Amino acid sequence: PKPFETTPAVKMKSYACQRRTPLKHHNSFLTDALEILAQNAEFSENEGRSVAFRRSASVLKALPHVVRSMGDLKDLPCLGEHSLRVIKEILEDGTSSEVESTRQSEQFQAMKALTDVFGVGVRTADRWFREGLRSPLDLIPTGQKLNHAQQAGVKYYNDLNTPVTKKEAMVISDIVEKAVKAVLPGAIITLTGGFRRGKELGHDVDFLITHPEEGAEERLMPKIVNWLDNQGLLLYQKTTRNSYLESKDGPARPASNMDRFERCFSIFKLEQLESDTHTETSSYNSGRAAGTEERHAGSTWRAVRVDLVVSPYSQFAFATLGWTGSKLFERELRRWAGQEKGMSLSSHALYDSKQQRYLRANSEEEIFAHLGLEYIPPSERNA
Ligand code: GTP
Ligand code: MN
Ligand code: MN
Repeated sequence: PKPFETTPAVKMKSYACQRRTPLKHHNSFLTDALEILAQNAEFSENEGRSVAFRRSASVLKALPHVVRSMGDLKDLPCLGEHSLRVIKEILEDGTSSEVESTRQSEQFQAMKALTDVFGVGVRTADRWFREGLRSPLDLIPTGQKLNHAQQAGVKYYNDLNTPVTKKEAMVISDIVEKAVKAVLPGAIITLTGGFRRGKELGHDVDFLITHPEEGAEERLMPKIVNWLDNQGLLLYQKTTRNSYLESKDGPARPASNMDRFERCFSIFKLEQLESDTHTETSSYNSGRAAGTEERHAGSTWRAVRVDLVVSPYSQFAFATLGWTGSKLFERELRRWAGQEKGMSLSSHALYDSKQQRYLRANSEEEIFAHLGLEYIPPSERNA
């Protein structure tokens, strides 16, 4: 008999794509704080700093227990000096002064409110902040020039900042399915993004569309959009053509993380679900997020952001993996591929630099295998 036999401590792997990260975890009181600092770093376009905080938070999300003391963090990867200092303060005092002052700061709050407008990025929000703007409501009197996306973003600000429920996502799923089947029988539609990872709420609904017959999917998006528009289901849409074949910089090396699929950023006009229209908990008109268009009491519809992406069948596995997220999980997959495997991963393909060839895959499982990684199911990619 071995009286003091213990289970060996699980050693936490250092890349998020090597770990299982469930949706619900035990350390939100720490990860929320670190993510405030990450977001603040994004607002000042300090990407390195932002990623460092996000990686720290992600490690804590993968822990199977609550962190109660600094000793619990022994041997964990990715925890930098700054993150450790913040964690220590929270464990000792309940809050971190840096996090709280960030949260309270006028700049952080304004940048948050302004970037919450659909179509507004950090650059634009920062310029507006320096011009004295503090909220989307300030955009109207100052007569700011807004592009079409931003106009829609301001108009539907309240709705677009009201989380999409899984129930709503399912209704939209049915609509998208109907539209796609009508214009291309045999097409395959997959729900991607946060809802595929098991989230109950999302900021939008993401879909990936393909067809088993390679080439049948070409120029499909305009047909889908037309169908939806004819049914009066679209409040806004911007379709971008597939630029994958035209690109000169090689398929696995897109200029940024942006991929080259035919895609559509849209805003759906969703008929209110019967059960949601008369409830007091409905957040429409709650006043929390001041929008610019008063919604009539009893309005029967609401605006919901929907992303549609069309991929050729041969790239479908890569596209599915690339559009399921989380964003940090995706970033870590690409970093793993490049730094540990000498490979280059995108939402289109996987290139092996040593063998100087593309590696084919018909499923996400095969891509993980090519990368020498244990398969992580979508519900555990919540890094
Ligand atoms: P919520 O929508 O906030 O609930 O979370 P989410 O994880 O669904 O986020 P989002 O809809 O922003 O993105 C879904 C996935 O698509 C993430 O993994 C992103 O990395 C990915 N994604 C978003 N935009 C692009 C893009 O332009 N190109 C590629 N390749 N991926 C993208
Ligand atoms: Mn999403
Ligand atoms: Mn999206």
